[in-house]
Amino acid sequence: MKKIMVVNGPNLNLLGQKDPTLYGCFTLDDLNQKILDFADKNELEVKLFQSNYEGEIVEELHKARGNFDGIIINPAALTHNSYVLRSAIESIQVPCLEVHISNVHKGDDFRKQDVIGPACVGVITGLGWLGYLLALEYFLKL
Ligand code: DQA
Repeated sequence: MKKIMVVNGPNLNLLGQKDPTLYGCFTLDDLNQKILDFADKNELEVKLFQSNYEGEIVEELHKARGNFDGIIINPAALTHNSYVLRSAIESIQVPCLEVHISNVHKGDDFRKQDVIGPACVGVITGLGWLGYLLALEYFLKL
């Protein structure tokens, strides 16, 4: 059974309350349930992790080294400026797939900069919660 970790970054605990026109009405619990249902049906083992602290995310990524087949990460606003997170991803030798709920190429200019993407196998952006399931599908088929 493949082991996948799903990491959600700062403020994503507020999904459903934070700008629902951009990020949708679903909560983090709703999203996690969809991920767990998909994992169940497809015999994937999934670990869910969310943190508002960059350092905690880095620690979790370090622990993933050698223990997971893939990581799905929504770095949230860290996407746009965190070389610390990028460096952590580059250090762990676990393939990471970056996911965004909204289309980061639309709207605020600063969101168009993605410093994490170059360290990942790919980026899914703008497909809402479905992006996470497509990312799981990728690791399933890999
Ligand atoms: C986000 C996009 C980021 O720009 C933003 O800071 C978020 C959420 C997304 O999933 O669309 O917190 O990562």
